[in-house]
Amino acid sequence: MADDFNILVSCAGRRVGLVNAFRQALRGLDVNGQVFAADLNFSSPASHAADRRFTAPLFKTGTFIDDMLTLCERERVRLVVPTIDPELPLYAEARRRFADIGTTVAVASPRAIEIGGDKEQTHAWLNELGLPTPRQTTVAEALAHPADWPTPLIVKPARGSSSIGLQHITNHDVLTTLDQPTEMVVESIVPGIEHTVDVYIDRAGQPRCAVPRKRLETRAGEVSKGVTVRHNALQALVMKVADELPEAFGVINVQAFLDPDTQDMAVIEINPRFGGGYPLTEAAGAPMTRWLVEDCLGRASTATPNGWRDNLAMLRYDEAVFVDASKIGTDA
Ligand SMILES: Nc1ncnc2c1ncn2[C@@H]1O[C@H](COP(=O)(O)OP(=O)(O)O)[C@@H](O)[C@H]1O
Ligand SMILES: [Mg+2]
Repeated sequence: MADDFNILVSCAGRRVGLVNAFRQALRGLDVNGQVFAADLNFSSPASHAADRRFTAPLFKTGTFIDDMLTLCERERVRLVVPTIDPELPLYAEARRRFADIGTTVAVASPRAIEIGGDKEQTHAWLNELGLPTPRQTTVAEALAHPADWPTPLIVKPARGSSSIGLQHITNHDVLTTLDQPTEMVVESIVPGIEHTVDVYIDRAGQPRCAVPRKRLETRAGEVSKGVTVRHNALQALVMKVADELPEAFGVINVQAFLDPDTQDMAVIEINPRFGGGYPLTEAAGAPMTRWLVEDCLGRASTATPNGWRDNLAMLRYDEAVFVDASKIGTDA
């Protein structure tokens, strides 16, 4: 039907929880529509949790956006939700092209994606705004002035993700052995407890709700055990980050440390997309997927800042999708 509200979760991978959340959002709002998943091939679990699955080309082929535009127009997709870092700049640049075919992309401006995508820029931007973040420098500076940069330190790729290439170092000599030192940043280690905060930002750019999730355990850089934490100052800090981020829209994810003794806070990373642990926020009663759909439909928003449950724990385990093997090839 022409007025169906179809949603495409892009590069959906293992995000079965997110696909299900969007399906529940449509049902809850009594809106006709389906949730689609696009990925490189059909071996991604979310492709089989979705109502329909489509293939997306490799980014390096250069046709990613054109192919997604064709798909969205043909299948009447009204909302695209990007989920992985490499696709964010592509979608951010193409927001207007999608708008021209009646599709909203839940992505921030190219400038915001640039800030989030590079830890040196994240640091500079937060500093400029006077928002708390760890001390940071280059490998060359840390080697030239070791007294200013006492170990232990963290060294990590400026454009990295999932903790790949990240090292805790206790000796400056390690800095002379790095493969690509100019691609790395050096940071002081922040004390305290790490939190990941999901923030919903409406189409007017207004942050409406922030839900901190304390990390209890991670597997391969993604939270496997977490708990919601109500903390006014942390929520306010992250709402401020979201508010300042140019044209942020939809759900973003900000990582910050909170020192329980001093109450000091430090923002270490901005991911302008849904975080992997988002299902906890939804389960706690902050249905950001529903708020996003409401907003795209032009309906009155039911978003509330503090209607979610504090102290709710998420204990993740491996689930599986069982499908005929003929359905997981690219030609299925
Ligand atoms: N300055 C820091 N102080 C303490 N821990 C840090 C710091 N920087 C990174 N970490 C730890 O390393 C993890 C990965 O770093 P992050 O900056 O989030 O990079 P990415 O997730 O892109 O790999 C964080 O979740 C945090 O546990
Ligand atoms: Mg991170």
